[in-house]
Amino acid sequence: MKFSKLVQRAGTETAFAVLAKAKELERQGKSIIHFEIGEPDFNTPENVKQAGIKAIQENFTHYSPAQGILELREAVAEYIHKTRGIDVSPEEVVITPGGKDVILFTASAILDEGDEAIYPNPGYPIYESAIKISGATPVPMPLLEENGFAFDRKEFEKLITPKTKLIIINSPGNPTGGILSTEDLEFIADIAKKNDIIVMSDEIYSRIIYEGEFHSIASIPGMKERTVILDGFSKTYAMTGWRLGYAVTNKELAKQFVKLATNSFSCVATFVQMAGIEALRGPQDTVEEMRKKYEERRNLIINGLNEVPGFSVLMPKGAFYAFVNITGTGKTSKEISDYLLNEAGVATLPGTSFGKYGEGYIRFSYATSLDNIKEGLKRVKEAISKL
Ligand SMILES: Cc1ncc(COP(=O)(O)O)c(C=O)c1O
Repeated sequence: MKFSKLVQRAGTETAFAVLAKAKELERQGKSIIHFEIGEPDFNTPENVKQAGIKAIQENFTHYSPAQGILELREAVAEYIHKTRGIDVSPEEVVITPGGKDVILFTASAILDEGDEAIYPNPGYPIYESAIKISGATPVPMPLLEENGFAFDRKEFEKLITPKTKLIIINSPGNPTGGILSTEDLEFIADIAKKNDIIVMSDEIYSRIIYEGEFHSIASIPGMKERTVILDGFSKTYAMTGWRLGYAVTNKELAKQFVKLATNSFSCVATFVQMAGIEALRGPQDTVEEMRKKYEERRNLIINGLNEVPGFSVLMPKGAFYAFVNITGTGKTSKEISDYLLNEAGVATLPGTSFGKYGEGYIRFSYATSLDNIKEGLKRVKEAISKL
């Protein structure tokens, strides 16, 4: 069968492939410690689950407007005001089935063949994929360990051309846990304004921060109109399987997103949107409880991984990933990741799943229990010492 050029340009997210392989090994009776998938191990807070159940019982089971129900968009607008200090109207909010769709929507609405889009590398693999799907040219912005995985401003500036139409940023970042400083954000904002470029700011980990405060580029004067904020419920409220996220952007761009939504999913499940209102407006203590637990896990896993011969890892400032430099082992990312899965029953992702600048690294997601982390560390140390 012959497939379209569009689908052939699309990339994928290797995490799901490694998860499938790890599950297959488990089915064969092997014990596996899962560090591959970036998903909170916590369950959705009880009040949010109850709101979802109630919404089904009250028959919120029909279509809703493609942009999302007004009350949820109002709740998102309030939340953005509270967390980013900017005024947003419900017309500037589009509800999506997960934050992920915002990436494809932004690339589809902004980019054409011949355009260029800058994205972080190593970075969430869907950025490069979405840019390629749109027909534009992906321009990787290398995030290097020596810069704490933040932007190198000089290098970044060199990548800007008259064809640059979109800059993607992600802070706190997947897979590195790096955070862009307010100076970095100001620098990117200045360039975006001067060159009339849209910025998509992936803020999905904005509530999982261990050092300092979260800052959004959209809060910088003159940036709200040229920013697409991507955020959602998956990580903050442990709601990955509900599929609920949103874009916040200017009204014109929001209209284009609604057109794309109408062409694909029509609307997010209406009862899921009702649960989202409870997540945003209900008690927020579980968010902080989860963050504290991630912090405890971070300290344990980072210290443990730094004791493994040939491994070294920086202390991540946000998100729930350890991006481990494995060059001291003399092996490639893929070799180490495969070896740990097959020999030690420890599932990780090779850094190259996040782009070419991920070579020399493997990613551990520490959204798993302290017991799993302890057992995983023991296995990794044993296996790597045998290399
Ligand atoms: C950086 C980043 N952005 C977006 C997403 C998408 O999240 P969701 O579609 O579940 O909201 C993820 C998920 O892993 C991510 O790591």
